[in-house]
Amino acid sequence: MEERGWEVFASEDDEPDKDSEVFFNPEMRLNRDVSEVAGRVFRQKIDVEDFRVCDALSASGIRGFRYSDYADTLHLNDINPEAVRRLNKGLRSNDIEAETFNQDANTHLSKHRNFYNFIDVDPFGSITRFLDSTARAANHQSFVGLTATDNGPVSGSYPKVCRRRYGSKPLRNSLMHETGLRIYIKEVFQNFARFDKCFDPKICFQHRHYSRLMGRVTESKSRCNKNLENIGYMTFCYDCRWRRLERKSQCEHCSSSNVAHAGPLWTGSIGDQRFISDMIDEIPGDWNEALKLLEKLNDEVQVKTPFYDIHKMASEVDVQAPKTSDTVDRLEEKGYIVSETHFEPTGVRTDAPFEEVRNVIKSESTS
Ligand SMILES: C[S@@+](CC[C@H](N)C(=O)[O-])C[C@H]1O[C@@H](n2cnc3c(N)ncnc32)[C@H](O)[C@@H]1O
Ligand SMILES: [Zn+2]
Repeated sequence: MEERGWEVFASEDDEPDKDSEVFFNPEMRLNRDVSEVAGRVFRQKIDVEDFRVCDALSASGIRGFRYSDYADTLHLNDINPEAVRRLNKGLRSNDIEAETFNQDANTHLSKHRNFYNFIDVDPFGSITRFLDSTARAANHQSFVGLTATDNGPVSGSYPKVCRRRYGSKPLRNSLMHETGLRIYIKEVFQNFARFDKCFDPKICFQHRHYSRLMGRVTESKSRCNKNLENIGYMTFCYDCRWRRLERKSQCEHCSSSNVAHAGPLWTGSIGDQRFISDMIDEIPGDWNEALKLLEKLNDEVQVKTPFYDIHKMASEVDVQAPKTSDTVDRLEEKGYIVSETHFEPTGVRTDAPFEEVRNVIKSESTS
């Protein structure tokens, strides 16, 4: 098997899962494409002679292989001895120099305190088990990327599990994936903050069954304190679909008290536009899916308001749903910042007031 020119020696299962002898899922290529480019952009931004990279849950080692282009020190680790055997084979076959480890990732990362500049954590399921050790291993000039496949709880299918694992209340409606992503970011930020380290989201997104959270780490108490302002709640009105990234006891549109509160969650931006635009400059032109995702994120991180699902909003105001592109164009003509969202093909993110969004949906509707 190969990916982007790197040879991998994993199990060839039709449906790779945690029971695979050595896990490799070709469908995660988008995640790896974005991660490779993010690491490269971060590497260009910091001034270190020895850029130390750790692929802490390597499986076949494919992430480590892909990061080898810009790593000066490369460590690959997996708890499964067969994975380590196969990733060593991959290192030889791809002619990559790296050190390999067969340890629990928590042990490995905790032993490498303040050591790594880029840490990749890609477990099966929840990331919570690895957050403390990742925070320990990060230093003042670090970048971390975490894949979370625990989207059921954080997007409201299992609210009790969400409260237990993340201490947050999720939402089960069209905003569930955005709420879920924000709960994950809050969790990463708070775990790092306990070590006086600050996690700043650079590019975070949700795709199919997983979320990817990537951000810069700094050892700055004052930065942590400032970012605490970005921990809060989302309020959603069941009567008119008004929403805000603040805790409000009443809807500010229809005055209803029939509102839901999700959180605590991250209320700041889910990415950094300058970082994402540098990634767009860096990404190979034929990595189409990743490029499309970056372009969407580049626009949508400019607006903080949770996105509107045009179909749900149209049904609320009792009209046929207009085209997403028509809604975007009309709002833009009116001078608002507006973008599509990667969360939903029929979603629009804008700084326009709620009443204006409703009016545009009514005026653009074909009914
Ligand atoms: C989802 S796979 C990693 C996939 C890989 N990063 C990729 O992109 O193809 C998770 C891997 O973590 C390993 N693993 C599970 N628990 C671990 C632990 N506590 N410490 C280190 N590795 C662990 C498993 O053996 C498995 O190979
Ligand atoms: Zn309302």
